[in-house]
Amino acid sequence: MSVRVLSVASEIYPIIKTGGLADVAGALPPALKAEAVEVRTLVPGYPQVMRAIGMAEEVLRWPEFFGGAGRLLLGKADELELFVLDAPHLYARAGNPYVTPEGVDWPDNGVRFAALSRIAADIGLGAVPAFVPDVVHAHDWQAGLAPVYLHYSGRPRPPTVMTVHNLAYQGRFQQDLLGRIGLPWESFTLHGVEYYGEVSFMKAGLQFADHITTVSPTYAKEILDEEGGMGLAGLLRERSGALSGILNGIDIRVWNPATDPQIPGRFNARDLAARPANKAALQRRLGLELFPDSCLVGVISRLSWQKGLDLLLEVLPALLDEGMQLALLGSGDADLQERFSAAANANPERVGVFIGYDEGLAHLIQAGADALVVPSRFEPCGLTQLCALRYGAVPVVSRVGGLEDTVLDPADAAGAATGIKFAPVTAEHLARALRRTAFAFHDKCAWRRLQHNGMATDVSWRGPAKQYAELYRRLARTPASA
Ligand code: ADP
Ligand code: GLC
Repeated sequence: MSVRVLSVASEIYPIIKTGGLADVAGALPPALKAEAVEVRTLVPGYPQVMRAIGMAEEVLRWPEFFGGAGRLLLGKADELELFVLDAPHLYARAGNPYVTPEGVDWPDNGVRFAALSRIAADIGLGAVPAFVPDVVHAHDWQAGLAPVYLHYSGRPRPPTVMTVHNLAYQGRFQQDLLGRIGLPWESFTLHGVEYYGEVSFMKAGLQFADHITTVSPTYAKEILDEEGGMGLAGLLRERSGALSGILNGIDIRVWNPATDPQIPGRFNARDLAARPANKAALQRRLGLELFPDSCLVGVISRLSWQKGLDLLLEVLPALLDEGMQLALLGSGDADLQERFSAAANANPERVGVFIGYDEGLAHLIQAGADALVVPSRFEPCGLTQLCALRYGAVPVVSRVGGLEDTVLDPADAAGAATGIKFAPVTAEHLARALRRTAFAFHDKCAWRRLQHNGMATDVSWRGPAKQYAELYRRLARTPASA
């Protein structure tokens, strides 16, 4: 049976991306084609999206829609089948989807993403006869009200899935938002959208979705306890019968070391001969000493508390003592940006830092670094360690969330190990993991085995897409309650 799914996402690769959510929203739909699941993704009409869709068909139009005129477009960008909510008063803004060019949240984010969810619900209820979905799939808080609008429509509706990519971002707004977004006051209760006197989009989605997924099985367990649940553990425990973890994959066409146009030397699992040239290119690019025997450790990350990179700063002297080099690409917290830049200035031959967003450099780090470190305090899934596996950069990761589920340490599986893991997430244990990494690196045979095992790991969307397809089919067979 073929199934139609409306996916609702606030970012989508390659059009607009701030993190892994975009990668997932962009790569899962094409992977689902092989499972006879037809996906159309609803995204906001940011300038980047409007440019990408070119010619598009207008399927709905409203003179007044959440404070201005709006249209729903049906369009295509490469292989992505899109619905675009073109509402310039909400989305025609410079920069990032969520924050002003000065870096503060847009004050009307509540209205902007309620509008997106509202249209998702309308499409779910059949507003566009050419595409009436069997399932509506909402990603993160920005789409969290889609199941809520469907619930309060009181009409026969399709079943809903809510995927939690990161519980740290919950979309909380003052109660007076409710009147402006057309939800009934009766929804403002403990069993509705209310959360400690505010409206929480994430909580609302978790409350009303028919099924909840997170992006790894371990994160699905972690969010049931107080620390991991970030204030929502109680609700998640209540709903645990409808909660499951499905690991992310990566787009193995974009991330393919054998064909990657963004790296100077192509390679594959059988022939890693071009890796040293990539390492040298990376060292040159970041002004590092051209030292082939130094273990070059890469980082590609948002710089935020979640990612544990303050711990890496703490252990930097130990890393340098081991004769290692560091290549870091990231942006985020001003304090971390400054501290990493200062470390690079103090050790220009050993520490290379690029503050900013640069996809080409991300590919070069994966292809040229010997190891990739991800010392996250929590990590719903994580994608950079998956790319690292595919590119023969040995992942050095904390034992949390999706990192725990995707990397094997020699202590877990001697001959089958793919990386180095550590727990608990402290500077001391990270330093120990880096010492183990340096030690393994100098045993060429052991290192090759880690690389080979990693490169043989299936990090594609094939397996995960089958699991999503199965979930959609099961839900589509079960009539949803109004
Ligand atoms: P998160 O979504 O929490 O930021 P993920 O590991 O799931 O973490 O996804 C991050 C994605 O963003 C990966 O595709 C990674 O390569 C990319 N990325 C992160 N920081 C940068 C950067 N500074 N430049 C280029 N790509 C980046
Ligand atoms: C979030 C998480 C990350 C995950 C990504 C895609 O941004 O922080 O762990 O890989 O979403 O699901």
